[in-house]
Amino acid sequence: MARPHLFSIDGHRVRFYPNEPIGRLRTLLPGRRMVLITDQQVYRKHPTSFAPFDTIVLRAGEKYKVQATVDSLIERLIALEVDRTTVLVGVGGGVVTDLVGYLASVYMRGIDVGFVPTTILSMVDASIGGKNGVDVGRYKNLVGSIRQPLFILHDYDLLSSLPKREWSNGFAEIIKHAAIGDAVLFEELRRQDLQSYQTNRIKLQRLIVRNVRFKIGVVKNDPYEKAGRKYLNFGHTLGHALEMQYELSHGEAISLGMMFAAQLSEEKLGFPGSEALQALLRRYGLPVKAGFSATNVYRSLSMDKKRVKRSVDFVLLKKIGQATLYPISLNELAARLQQYV
Ligand SMILES: NC(=O)c1ccc[n+]([C@@H]2O[C@H](COP(=O)([O-])OP(=O)(O)OC[C@H]3O[C@@H](n4cnc5c(N)ncnc54)[C@H](O)[C@@H]3O)[C@@H](O)[C@H]2O)c1
Ligand SMILES: [Zn+2]
Repeated sequence: MARPHLFSIDGHRVRFYPNEPIGRLRTLLPGRRMVLITDQQVYRKHPTSFAPFDTIVLRAGEKYKVQATVDSLIERLIALEVDRTTVLVGVGGGVVTDLVGYLASVYMRGIDVGFVPTTILSMVDASIGGKNGVDVGRYKNLVGSIRQPLFILHDYDLLSSLPKREWSNGFAEIIKHAAIGDAVLFEELRRQDLQSYQTNRIKLQRLIVRNVRFKIGVVKNDPYEKAGRKYLNFGHTLGHALEMQYELSHGEAISLGMMFAAQLSEEKLGFPGSEALQALLRRYGLPVKAGFSATNVYRSLSMDKKRVKRSVDFVLLKKIGQATLYPISLNELAARLQQYV
């Protein structure tokens, strides 16, 4: 077994295995029982990976990222006699890792957790940083906690079954990383395309590891989102509102959110890269314009859980690779949304 990369986040040591078959899970933590939690899609495509373990299979999709799922999972853990010495392992996309991270932080006041992310999005983003939680009504991630995993294991073979739309979905977060803090990556992405990463394992692994390191770097410096971690919300203010109201994936919604923020950046800060960003999002199969109800979206944004004042702090770009926070008043936001749709 290859040596893991070790990261320390908020005093916790996280072991990252960048390229390891899921079959190695059994030998990862000698003497510790593991209970795996996954969703139906992942389970159906890779049933043998789960054979050696007690496994709980959830229904797939964001609509199951809710407290009711956590409650039923707690019942299942009790039935399986899961105790403090057990390690829960979330195997799946961001929905599974968010649910399992949260479950592990509340069950018996906290037990160990590990992740095997199986989407690009969860590899480069959702499984890193310790944030987890569930949606409540139309509020995304309203309830949750911060808990770092013991380990994160990437097995590229699991991506063989990932639908094309989910590849694009994950590249939205990769493009986000490039836009807010890695201009060199932005240029690489412009030269490549989805297929070149899908067909070249080494290139893909290099890309994923670069993005894992990027996110870890941001989170390490700011685990509780007081400063730099906020930049990771680029595209997410509008994106979350769209995601909860329309049939859009997380990546599609934040792609639209990034375009909105890019246009604001152009007007407020003279950001010169809107067109380049738009072209890049399109290149990776992401939407850049969609009709939505400005009124509904405004209502959801103005009631956002993080709202403490009559303005919204948007993450804007000064240039590709450099982000900043900029307050937009609610009145202005209403007007901008009308123009945008
Ligand atoms: N905690 C964080 O910091 C953070 C960051 C970003 C996103 N998120 C959360 O992540 C979620 C989105 O994650 P996602 O896009 O991975 O969604 P997801 O977990 O819903 O996965 C997308 C779809 O792909 C399927 N799938 C997963 N792996 C597969 C595989 N290998 N083969 C075939 N199908 C597979 C799933 O069953 C699902 O249908 C959102 O809830 C979002 O809020 C959390
Ligand atoms: Zn995101």
